[in-house]
Amino acid sequence: MTVYDRLKAEQADASLYDKASQYAQDFLEQSFDRNIYPSEEALKALELFDEDVPERPTPAHEILKLLHTAGSPNTVILNGGRYFGFVNGGITPASIASKWLADAWDQNTAMDVMSPICSRLEIIVEKWLQKLFHLPKTTVAGFVTGTSMASYCGLIAARQHAYKSLGYDLNKQGMAGAPELRVITSAHTHGSINKAISMLGFGLDNVEYVPCDDQGRLLADQLPPLDNTCIVILQAGNVNSGSFDPIDDVCDKANKAGAWVHIDGAFGLWAEAVPALAHLTRGLAKADSWSVDGHKTLNTPYDCGIIMCKHKAAIISALHASGDYLMLDQPREGMLYTTDMSRRNRIVDLWSTIKSLGASGIEEMIYTFHLRAKQFAKEIKEAGFIVPNDVVFNQVIVHCDNDEKTRKVLQDIQDQRICWCGASTWFGKPVIRVSVCAWTTTPEDISKSVMSFKRAFEKINQ
Ligand SMILES: Cc1ncc(COP(=O)(O)O)c(C=O)c1O
Repeated sequence: MTVYDRLKAEQADASLYDKASQYAQDFLEQSFDRNIYPSEEALKALELFDEDVPERPTPAHEILKLLHTAGSPNTVILNGGRYFGFVNGGITPASIASKWLADAWDQNTAMDVMSPICSRLEIIVEKWLQKLFHLPKTTVAGFVTGTSMASYCGLIAARQHAYKSLGYDLNKQGMAGAPELRVITSAHTHGSINKAISMLGFGLDNVEYVPCDDQGRLLADQLPPLDNTCIVILQAGNVNSGSFDPIDDVCDKANKAGAWVHIDGAFGLWAEAVPALAHLTRGLAKADSWSVDGHKTLNTPYDCGIIMCKHKAAIISALHASGDYLMLDQPREGMLYTTDMSRRNRIVDLWSTIKSLGASGIEEMIYTFHLRAKQFAKEIKEAGFIVPNDVVFNQVIVHCDNDEKTRKVLQDIQDQRICWCGASTWFGKPVIRVSVCAWTTTPEDISKSVMSFKRAFEKINQ
């Protein structure tokens, strides 16, 4: 049988897609009761994947079966109500189902002509984002893999803009001999910002790191003097404490000086869509570019980041690609706003999630994360733990009365598998990070998880 014949037969086999859907439904149903982290027994079954490059073809049904029997039990239930690791977020049913359909579409969203549907959704979602985040109407959006890439694109646009204002054409003249730019950010800036700074060739030793308060917020009165050679990077949502830099104050200073402000709002930017939390992002529209994820607080599938930029010309001139075969003649060509040319149709994930929740649902879901985080902080403090951060958004930091106990408690919690939290350090001390960002988390999940902390604490004190 030729490859064509085999693939044609598999493509026509409706039972294949039914099976995938059935496995997925089994997984989703079981995920509410299953251990958050795979059992030791499940982990052993990963050996089933160890093989050399397969010489012969494998039927699609067999591939699916292996994935479900040995793969599904080895997932971490990120969409579970008791997963509080990193800042990972859940997934909405509408986005799962829409993504399946869109996977069958197999669209490349580089250009309008490659996918009218995806191109139209990008135009629509760009407008929705302007409204949800109350950003200027000139704001354009690029749909990228995640906030790391979004911030990289934002800083590329910032660099382009700064050089242009100095009369320097970076695309033509290159970095060697370019005027000096200054990068200013908080001492608590996220690792992805430092990575973008390194990749852009600014050099980490040249960054002007501004001191922070005890919540990890940049101290606006410690900002160095600014001018139009400066790129200032703030964060909306500290990855540990969830605190927000003083956006309004810093933007006022930067705007006056002609400096560019980029906001890393990977998960926290969504506070702007919640009136009761919007004080955290006050002044947001005064910045120049913003990065945010769909796959964290908004609960889209992964691989869904967004760069938004007030200055279309800056981002397009920095990321523009051309070719004889590229007729970039439509009002909006998606590839001009990202580093990629070919891109998967992640816009479907984002569009379907926003459409499924609506602005009111987004507001309710995100505010609920905040309430659950407050509940967690209250119950864990009552259980005798220390919470060194003000729970302003969805993050809770937990510490025992000494570092060794904190480490042991976390290990025991992870071994129990009732909930999952990760480790971090906060002002040099080991801490446990709790991030509430899946729609599935109920008040009972919080209490059950606090019980797991208590059990761990009692065990190590025996
Ligand atoms: C504040 C902040 N910025 C950037 C990132 C990186 O985002 P991504 O993983 O989508 O690249 C994270 C991830 O947690 C984050 O919390």
